[in-house]
Amino acid sequence: MLQLMKIQTVEVILLLVVSWCSLIYSLDNGLALTPPMGWLSWERFRCNLDCENDPHNCISEDLYKQMADRIVADGYKDAGYEYVCVDDCWLAPTRDANGRLQPDPNRFPSGMKALADYIHSKGLKFGIYEDFGVKTCAGYPGSEYYLELDAQTFADWGVDLLKFDGCGANAADFAYGYPAMTFYLNKTGRPILYSCEWPGHAHNTASYSAVRKYCNTWRNYIDINDNWQSLVQILVFYGKDQHNFSAYAGPGGWNDPDQLCIGDFALSLDQERTHMGMWAIFAAPLLMSNDLRNIRKVSRDLLLNKRLIAVNQDPLGIQGKLVYNKTVIRIWTKPITPTGSYAIAFVNFDGGGRPTHLTLKCSDVGLTNAEGYDVTDTFTGDAVGTYKPGDEFDVFVNPTGIIMFTAIPLQTN
Ligand SMILES: *[C@@H]1O[C@H](CO)[C@@H](O)[C@H](O)[C@H]1NC(C)=O
Ligand SMILES: *[C@@H]1O[C@H](CO)[C@@H](O)[C@H](O)[C@H]1NC(C)=O
Ligand SMILES: *[C@@H]1O[C@H](CO)[C@@H](O)[C@H](O)[C@H]1NC(C)=O
Repeated sequence: MLQLMKIQTVEVILLLVVSWCSLIYSLDNGLALTPPMGWLSWERFRCNLDCENDPHNCISEDLYKQMADRIVADGYKDAGYEYVCVDDCWLAPTRDANGRLQPDPNRFPSGMKALADYIHSKGLKFGIYEDFGVKTCAGYPGSEYYLELDAQTFADWGVDLLKFDGCGANAADFAYGYPAMTFYLNKTGRPILYSCEWPGHAHNTASYSAVRKYCNTWRNYIDINDNWQSLVQILVFYGKDQHNFSAYAGPGGWNDPDQLCIGDFALSLDQERTHMGMWAIFAAPLLMSNDLRNIRKVSRDLLLNKRLIAVNQDPLGIQGKLVYNKTVIRIWTKPITPTGSYAIAFVNFDGGGRPTHLTLKCSDVGLTNAEGYDVTDTFTGDAVGTYKPGDEFDVFVNPTGIIMFTAIPLQTN
């Protein structure tokens, strides 16, 4: 134990040296200049180990290869979805004789390097999961005391993204533990997108400026589940924007409200539209967790909607904020390009049986350009009209649904 503590002390000293030498305030690995897009197994496939009875859906190399195939064949790759990400439960119960992590030999018989090679051969990137604590959330070997070795193992395998969870660790260790892994990932020389669960596991008390400095994306709230109540909890948390966490989003680093459950079991089409529209407004990572082998066409079309993806990937990288919270319809706006433009989302939090009506002036939600705006429906691309700041607009929003507009400023010459 004492020796292990010494290793951690060395890590801290190295980190301090790194911090002193560096004046950058976002993680400088050239990655995540826009929110990362891809697929992650957790929400939909969990820790399904039962390959005997459920070979099609258990956590195995076949599952990830099949998803990679679908991402390429069904247009997701062309739309920007890029990372194919393993989550918990890929590991064998113990490290190998050299202390290295190893996958479960029955479910990943070809090994992780071969899986990474397969995913790379499709022009995609490979994401993996580990945990800063002594054990992962599901009880597999964690990285605590093995940070350097594990970072090197991931680099050797060709990993492009690391989701680093915070189960089984002391939250007081996060402020040096997560940066220590940043240091070791960097030291491998391989650019690896670093997805931290630091503020989330620290009950949102972490310093967001530190988090942004060391991570490319960071979860700050509880796990999403495939139902409307879960989505509402996340929307409310993001609406409150405690500690102004929205201000820390930008090219290189993003708040992560968790995976997309679009195309799964519980959400209605209106709720799926709300999910996709709001993840666009939040400039959130778009990590689908669904069965791409078996997905409704309407859900697929939503995930592939170019206008929503463009709002999410907008180069300004500004996270949208709640600007109106006076009725069951809450309004968020996100500044986007070209300069002075906004994406505007109206979400109806009422689950009652009929659409809710709202009338507001454009200036009430910050649309104040005197020349007015050219407004289109973000979902369809249809023209809605031109509006001046004093003009009223009328919306009817379906229960638990969303309406989204893109407003581009008009100029007189
Ligand atoms: C490592 O960090 C340095 C300094 O911040 C940066 O220039 C370099 O690109 C990083 N390398 C990787 C592989 O992340
Ligand atoms: C918005 O209003 C709801 C309902 O009154 C409230 O619960 C919530 O905290 C409000 N959110 C913010 C950010 O003020
Ligand atoms: C958060 O930002 C708002 C303005 O958007 C400001 O009024 C408030 O003081 C800020 N709070 C903190 C804790 O920085």
